[in-house]
Parts: sequence; C-alpha cells; structure tokens
Amino acid sequence: MQPQMKPAAAPVPPERAPRKLAHPRMRIGPAIAVYVWQYPLRLAHWGLVLSIGLLAFTGYYIHNPFIVGQTKTTFLMGTFRFAHEAFAMCFIAFFLIRIYLFFAGDRWVKLSAMAPVSRARWKEMIEVAKFYAFIRPRPLSKVGHNPLAAASYLGIYALIFVEIVTGLVMFNWLAQNPVLTVLVGWIPGYIDIQNIRLIHFCLMFVFIAFGIVHVHMCLIVSSAEKRGLLDSIFTGYKVVPVDELEEDDRAAIEAARDHRVRA
Ligand code: HEM
Ligand code: HEM
Repeated sequence: MQPQMKPAAAPVPPERAPRKLAHPRMRIGPAIAVYVWQYPLRLAHWGLVLSIGLLAFTGYYIHNPFIVGQTKTTFLMGTFRFAHEAFAMCFIAFFLIRIYLFFAGDRWVKLSAMAPVSRARWKEMIEVAKFYAFIRPRPLSKVGHNPLAAASYLGIYALIFVEIVTGLVMFNWLAQNPVLTVLVGWIPGYIDIQNIRLIHFCLMFVFIAFGIVHVHMCLIVSSAEKRGLLDSIFTGYKVVPVDELEEDDRAAIEAARDHRVRA
C-alpha cells in the first residue's frame, strides 16, 4: 500500500498573507499613568522655551540689525531692545519658578532627584549614554528624568543663570538701577563689558543647539520606551509599569492621591 501523502498546503493568496509588521505591539505589563510633571514645571518649561525663541530673535537683531527702518522716525533698535528686556523679565520669572521647584517641587523634579551625587547614579548615566551611543538596545527607563538627562538639565539651568546675570549687567549698564547695581554692578570691574556681551551672545547658540539635541533625544527615548514621554511634558502623565515603581515612588503616588491629584 502506498503511504498516504499529505496534501500540499494551498498557497496563501498574497492579500491573505499575515502582515507581520502591520500593527506591532509591545507588552509592558500592568502599568499606571503617573502624574510626574506638575503644572508649574510644565509652565516653566514652555515659558522658558517660548522666551528663549523670542529672546534669540530680538537679541540677534540687537547684535545684527537685519531689518532696516524706512522712515526717519523709525525707532526699531529701541523697540527691539525694549521687547528683549520685557521678554527677559518673563524669562527670569519662569526661571525663578523652576528654582523654587528644586526645593518645593514633587519628588521627581527636586534638586536631590536630579543631581548626580551618588555612585549608583553615575553608573546609570553610563548605561543611558550606551543607549544614546547605540551600544545598548533599550533605554534605562525612570519614572522621572533619566540620570544623564537630569544632569544635562542642571547644566542648562546653570547656563541660563549665566545668561540672566550677563543680561542684567548689560541692562544695568544703561539703566543704573540701585538694586541691580548692588547685585551685578560690580561684575564689569572683573570682566570687561564687551566680554560680557560676547558671553551673552555665544550662549544663545548653546541654547539653540541644546534645544535641537534635546528634542532629538526625547524623541528616540520616547519611541523606544513607548510610554508617552513626549506627551508627558504637555499632560504631566507618564505610563509606568507597576513593577518598576520604587518604594518611594509608591509613597509619592499615595501622597499625591491625598492631595486630590489624580493618581
Ligand atoms: C535665552 C535668553 C537670552 C538670549 C538668547 C539673549 C540673546 C541676546 C543677544 C544675541 C544679544 C545681542 C548681543 C550682542 O550685541 O552681541 C542680547 C543683548 C542683550 N540682552 Fe539678551 N538674551 C537672553 C536673555 C537676556 C536676559 C535674561 C536679559 C536680562 C535683562 C538680557 C538683556 C540683554 C540686553 C540688555 C542686551 C542689549 C545689549 C546692548 O544693548 O548692546 N538678555 N541678548
Ligand atoms: C530650547 C528649547 C528647550 C529647552 C531649553 C528645554 C529644556 C528642558 C529642561 C531643562 C527640561 C527638564 C525639566 C525640569 O525638570 O526642569 C526639559 C524636559 C523635557 N522637555 Fe524640553 N526644552 C526645550 C524644548 C523642548 C521641546 C520643543 C520639546 C518637545 C517637543 C521638549 C520636550 C521635553 C520633554 C518630553 C521633557 C521631559 C524629558 C525627560 O524626562 O527627560 N522640550 N526640557
């Protein structure tokens, strides 16, 4: 007797073939949405971003007046300078909100949570750097900022402080305000005012470069993690797998619930 042959599987018509990559999914296990970025932090972030844009535009005009007034009474430089100083005051206000949050903010935005002070945090920074250098396939996910990002934010806040001080020195050079004279009036005695202007000018490019690299890095982490990192700077919420919450994260979420913040 002839052995029975299995009938050959009918070829799958191309339109029925399983489309493997049509809707890829990533399992993240039980997860909760944590309110990580409180409202004043988001306000300060977007306030600073917007004012950096406006200050760079008006500041660059002060450096190199690229619009030529067509009438005798045009007071363009004065107007741009006034706008620059007005935006600068808003910029300082947003910066002060952020400084306040370093001490009074949520667990994830406090200075103690961001400063690279422990050996463990430095080790984590190396792991994050490996991800950015395409050596490690997955990012090191954290409820708050990852340690490398946190350190870079502290660096940018330090430079923002320098920008504010150099700006106030130039402002006071003409305004001669008694309070500002006490606060920053002594600086030109040590650093020539032209060098102060140069530092102020060069830092503008650092902020622009930071903005570009920062958005790029947030995008690649967000797309690798799939936890709504980019969304979080608008809504405040990040999706966090429950088993990645540390003990004090749980305590912080409980505390937030007591304060009627939706946890
Ligand atoms: C990210 C924030 C800022 C950026 C990007 C920025 C940018 C600039 C630039 C490019 C200039 C032209 C410098 C030059 O002539 O070479 C300038 C001038 C000036 N900035 Fe800012 N600035 C910022 C923040 C501030 C702040 C906080 C103040 C504080 C009051 C300030 C006050 C001034 C003043 C008074 C001048 C005019 C100097 C002059 O008349 O020659 N700036 N800024
Ligand atoms: C020049 C422009 C920008 C500057 C200087 C800047 C600066 C910062 C800083 C300092 C933080 C840390 C917040 C804190 O804890 O204090 C931050 C966080 C963040 N920013 Fe920006 N930002 C800029 C533009 C943007 C833009 C355009 C986007 C989105 C399209 C963005 C998305 C985010 C996100 C998602 C976070 C949280 C990231 C994390 O957990 O590490 N930023 N940014």
